[in-house]
Formats: sequence, structure tokens, C-alpha cells
Amino acid sequence: MYQVLYRKYRPKVFSDVVGQEHITTTLAKEIETGKLSHAYLFTGSRGTGKTTCAKILSKAVNCLHPVDGNPCNECEVCQGIESGAILDIAEIDAASNNGVDNIRDIREEINFTPASCKYRVYIIDEVHMLSIGAFNALLKTLEEPPAHVKFILATTEVHKLPVTILSRCQRFDFRRVTPEAMAERMNYIASQEGFTVTEEALSLIARIADGGMRDALSLLDQCTGHGDTIDADLVCSVAGMTGKDHLFSLASAVNGKDSAKALELISDLHGKSCDMERLCSDMINHFRNLMIVKTVRSAESLLVCTADELQQYKDQSGKFTLENILYCISLLQEAMANIKKGVNRRTEMEMTFIKLSTPSLTADSENLLRRIAELENKMRGGTFVSSAADLAPQAEAKAEPKQEAAEAPTASVQLSSPPQETPDVSDEPEHSAEEELPWAEVMQELTKLNMPLWGVLNGSSAVIQGDFVLIKSDNPTLSAFIKTGTNARDVKAAIKNITGRAYRLGLYNASAQQSSAPAQPKKDSLENLIGKARDMGINVDVK
Ligand SMILES: Nc1ncnc2c1ncn2[C@@H]1O[C@H](COP(=O)(O)OP(=O)(O)O)[C@@H](O)[C@H]1O
Ligand SMILES: [Mg+2]
Ligand SMILES: [Zn+2]
Repeated sequence: MYQVLYRKYRPKVFSDVVGQEHITTTLAKEIETGKLSHAYLFTGSRGTGKTTCAKILSKAVNCLHPVDGNPCNECEVCQGIESGAILDIAEIDAASNNGVDNIRDIREEINFTPASCKYRVYIIDEVHMLSIGAFNALLKTLEEPPAHVKFILATTEVHKLPVTILSRCQRFDFRRVTPEAMAERMNYIASQEGFTVTEEALSLIARIADGGMRDALSLLDQCTGHGDTIDADLVCSVAGMTGKDHLFSLASAVNGKDSAKALELISDLHGKSCDMERLCSDMINHFRNLMIVKTVRSAESLLVCTADELQQYKDQSGKFTLENILYCISLLQEAMANIKKGVNRRTEMEMTFIKLSTPSLTADSENLLRRIAELENKMRGGTFVSSAADLAPQAEAKAEPKQEAAEAPTASVQLSSPPQETPDVSDEPEHSAEEELPWAEVMQELTKLNMPLWGVLNGSSAVIQGDFVLIKSDNPTLSAFIKTGTNARDVKAAIKNITGRAYRLGLYNASAQQSSAPAQPKKDSLENLIGKARDMGINVDVK
């Protein structure tokens, strides 16, 4: 009869348990020296060896000829325990026996001496599932257990145990098994079974199993029977990880701002009965992988993929900015939430991919804010130059605000009057006079060049003063943001594309406007330092 690998290769001695040496050496030593506790607590995630070690321990304490703290697995006691003929070792699943009565039964039983060995051992698995009453009953038992009884409690969720229980046990924390330790064990099993597993396949299985040895061995099991060698491709197809091509293609359509292509791909996938919710979550994961490859130096350990795929991720992530990737993840996560609410999945995905591949289009509050800012700007300037493309609602809005602008030009008065009224301005009136610029159009232009910057500048306004465009915004991060990366260059480019003129860039500073007339953009302390350094003849290179 075929026995699954993880059962067949359940370790029978401590030295076969991999990756838990901090536990197995201590236990073996306790057995060798006879310094045993009466209660042990094994915690850790599933498939890391808790039950395995509990079984080895229960044999080792009873074995007639233990070897270095390990059970001999040959004496009649070891064999009796293994075959289940000896009833003094009880395995209780607390998930299904969680009542106070179950524990009371144990309390009565333990008063009898074991029938065929030294210690009666109770292995209580998933002990966190016990009811409060059962915990209290267990606590009493743990307080004064007879000398011939040992308890081994095991749990994946140690935080659910009362401290009173914790304080009465010797606790061992099982670790997730490292990829190296897993590979070692899988190689051993492969050699016993007469097949080979490539390095890449071993590391892939280990990453899929995420530290759980049972899952790793189950996956390995499913890969057998397809020939003598198990490689990464086989692991991929068995684990259902094949065919990420469509994810790369969709991301590439987003990158190329090709919404037609994206829609075509979605329609295709839909036709092949690809579930749109699954697609959405796969796409989120795809952009997450791109994000990791872009930000982490050794991304290999954080991604579950083959070496080829890793290279593909690297190539694709190079084509996106980090801001873009984050933007894609957040839109897809919104779509996921909507899908879960029950909207039409296909429509939701189509809308999302149109948004993703048309950066100037976001149907959320940002878009509304942007349009309001546009209108406000037009009102301020009193210039309602209607273009043919103007939509009807905007055209309606034109007539009314025109009067408003005339009646109460509040913002623009504050902005422009102080410099004009200051006497020393009169020397160079053409420099200090503030002119309006079509900021809304500049912002629209910016959506093509630098989406994140558009977000930061959202709600801002700007005036022209001499050679400068001064930006007015109450966003405190703007000053820092505009100095990073290509941001300043992009704003300048947007301004130039709209006005046809190259301006220098500054931040509007209301107090500076009032005191010193030909408004210089305020220098920050770093610029001051650099200036001083240059004055002293030190060569400072700044981008
Ligand atoms: N540390 C380990 N070393 C070797 N094999 C292990 C280890 N942990 C788990 N296994 C394998 O996984 C199977 C299940 O392990 P088990 O001890 O039942 O895990 P759990 O921690 O969930 O109780 C074992 O039969 C064994 O084949
Ligand atoms: Mg277990
Ligand atoms: Zn033995």
C-alpha cells in the first residue's frame, strides 16, 4: 500500500528532526540525565515537528534501551507504542474533545499506574481549543500530577492559552523550517526513494511551503511519478503556478497606456472562463512582486517564483516607477473590495484597467477636486476661455462665476495686492506684478508627465512673477517633494508645454511677498549652506 511521504518519513529519532536543534538537543539531554519535566508545551506553526517530537519524547521516556536520549525503536515498549498496542500513550485532539468532561476523564485515569510502561503520557494537540472549564480542570491536574504521568501540550496558537497553564509547562517554540533544512530533508527522502530534485525545485518547494515541512513533503509527493527528476517547472505546474504570461501582458498594457489592449486581454481571459476575482487578486500579487523586486535587493527570498520569472519581474519593474506600481496596487485593491461587495466582476476589472492605462482619468474624489481646482483657477483669473472640448456642465458654470469673480475676487486680491502697493516695487513693476497662468491646464499636462506629483499639487494654484512661477499650496510636503527626483523638471516642462515659456520655479510665500517686493523664492537652509560653501570657494555639486 502506498504511504504518503510525510507519514512514511515521520522522524523516529530526534536527530532526524531538522531545523529544531534548539529543542531536540535539550529534550535528548533531559532524557539522558533523567531531569524530566512533568508538563511540556510545544508551540509553533503547523508542520514544524510538534507532534513528531511529542511522539519521539513519549517513546524515549519509556524506552528500555534509550540511545543518547533517543528511543531505540526496537525494544518491545518502543514497538508497542509505535503499533498502538500500548495504551499508556494517549493522543487527544482538543479540537474535538474540548469539554470539561474530557479533561475530568483524564484526571480520573491518571490515578492508575501505567499498564505496560514507566510513564503514562498525554499528548493534547491543539490545546488552545479547550473550553474555559476544561482549562480549569487541566490546571488542577497540572498542579499536582502523579509522578508516573507526563503531559505534552501542543498548539499553533499559544497566545490563546491562559498564563496559568503556560507557567506550569516547560515551553519549546518550534521554528518555521528554513529552506536549507527543508532541502536537506527532501534530498534525503529523494535519495531513499530513488529520484532527484533540482536545487531550484527544492528552493521553490521550500518557499511555497513557507516553513511547514508537512506541506513541503505533500508537494514533493505530488511531484513524484512524473519521471526521475523533479524540476522547478514540474513544481510550478503541480502547485498550480503556471501561466503568469497574462499577468505580465496586462501589466505591460498598463505600462504602455494601451487600454484597448488591456480590454482585449480581459475579454480573452473572460472567454476562457478565467475568474475575474482571481485575476484581480493575481494582479495585486503581480504588482506586489514588481514592488518587491524594485525595492528589495535580494528579492529572491521574498518571491515565490522560478529564476526565469524573477528575471521577468526585474525587467518589467524597471519600466514602472515605484509610485506607479503603488498606484496600480491601490486601484486594484479598490476593485477587489468592490468585487467582494458584489458588483459585476468583469465590468469592474474593465473599468479598473481603463483607469490604470489612462493616467489622467481617475473617477474618484481626486478627479472631482482637480476639476474644482480648475474651475476656481479660471474664476480667479476671470479668464473663461472656452475651448471646443469643454463639456456642457462646465460651460454652464462659466456664466455664473464670471459675476462672482467680479464681485468678490477675494483670493486673487490677497495674492496680488501687497506687492503692487509696496512703494519700492515701482522700480520694476513689470517684475513684481503677478500674472495669472493657466494653471489648470498645466496640471492637466502634468498628469501625462508625473502622476504622483499631480497628486501632491492637487488643489494648488500659481502665479507668474517675473521669471518665476510661484506655486501656492497648503500641502506641507510640497517643498520637500518638489526637490526630489525629476519633480521640479517635470513641473517646469508642463509649464513650458502650456505657456511656451521657460520659467524658474518657486513656492509662493505670503509673508515674503509683503516684506520684500521682487519676490525671490525662499531658499531653504540647505541651499543657504551650499551658497555659503560656494562663496568660500568650495565646489559643491548639486543636481
Ligand atoms: N522538523 C521536521 N523535520 C523533519 N520532518 C518534519 C519536521 N516537521 C514536520 N515534519 C514532517 O511533517 C510531518 C508532520 O509533522 P508534525 O510533527 O505532525 O507537525 P506539527 O508541528 O503540525 O505537529 C511529519 O510526519 C514529518 O514527515
Ligand atoms: Mg500536530
Ligand atoms: Zn526502545
